[in-house]
Amino acid sequence: MELIDGKAISEAIKKEISEEVQKRVQEGKKIPHLAAILVGHDGGSETYVAHKVKSCEQVGFKSTLIRFEDNVSEEELLQTVEKLNNDDEIDGFIVQLPLPKHISEQKIIEAIDYRKDVDGFHPINVGRSSIGLTSFVSATPAGILELLKRYNIETSGKHCVVIGRSNIVGKPVANLMMQKAYPGDATVTVCHSRTKNLADVTRQADIIIAALGQPEFLTAEMVKEGAVVIDVGTTRVPSDKTKSGWKLTGDVKFDEVAPKCSYITPVPGGVGPMTIVSLLKNTLLATEIEF
Ligand code: GUN
Repeated sequence: MELIDGKAISEAIKKEISEEVQKRVQEGKKIPHLAAILVGHDGGSETYVAHKVKSCEQVGFKSTLIRFEDNVSEEELLQTVEKLNNDDEIDGFIVQLPLPKHISEQKIIEAIDYRKDVDGFHPINVGRSSIGLTSFVSATPAGILELLKRYNIETSGKHCVVIGRSNIVGKPVANLMMQKAYPGDATVTVCHSRTKNLADVTRQADIIIAALGQPEFLTAEMVKEGAVVIDVGTTRVPSDKTKSGWKLTGDVKFDEVAPKCSYITPVPGGVGPMTIVSLLKNTLLATEIEF
């Protein structure tokens, strides 16, 4: 079994990005600038956005954090999105999800200029990416493919089973894994909450991407010997062993699944750090992308 070290890979990529930024500075080009909108005080969202801002600093990007309280109106948020759309200094921006119930996430996402949508959530980017056109690919799926690539994991003709059908991970990663490319060219099956005999399906998988958000869902008996397991889960589970009172838990029962795998990602330190570098890569791309 080989552990896929997302932290080390993400550090290596950050170094590459940072060199790219230095080169841009020497050539007198604009320094990439990412903005993030954060609504409310959800613990997970606060942590993610803080990591995104810190990572921008690490690679030499500029970053701007715009915060609102939970009671911000949809109208005010839409106005801020519009302002960022028209601000030439900002290359790309994200609106951290989830948003409070009174705000339509879809309406906000669709208000973002797709040329600045570095999360790759806008329907134009989703559609373009699904048919292999120039686009921003959403960060977590892009990060997963980057890990497969950096570890030279064979995907062509392999049976890839994706568990979860979210717009952010399940659907886009399934799409990417079936594209005529490397990584890709896989035979893809998508399982979800209504799938019958799910374990029978996962046991046939050469590659399993677990992205359902249910801690320790995937157990050893659901995994074929030698499978590649990618764990996208990041649920905060109460713990009396940590200072914060919780620990980040993946969708895979790591201790029993790992010994059966050829490769596996840990949580934390697997897919998570890759999501952030994919966002940085998209922001760099935003300075020069032509649709
Ligand atoms: N919430 C959870 N993951 C993400 C992400 O990748 N982008 C945004 N904007 N919100 C999220």
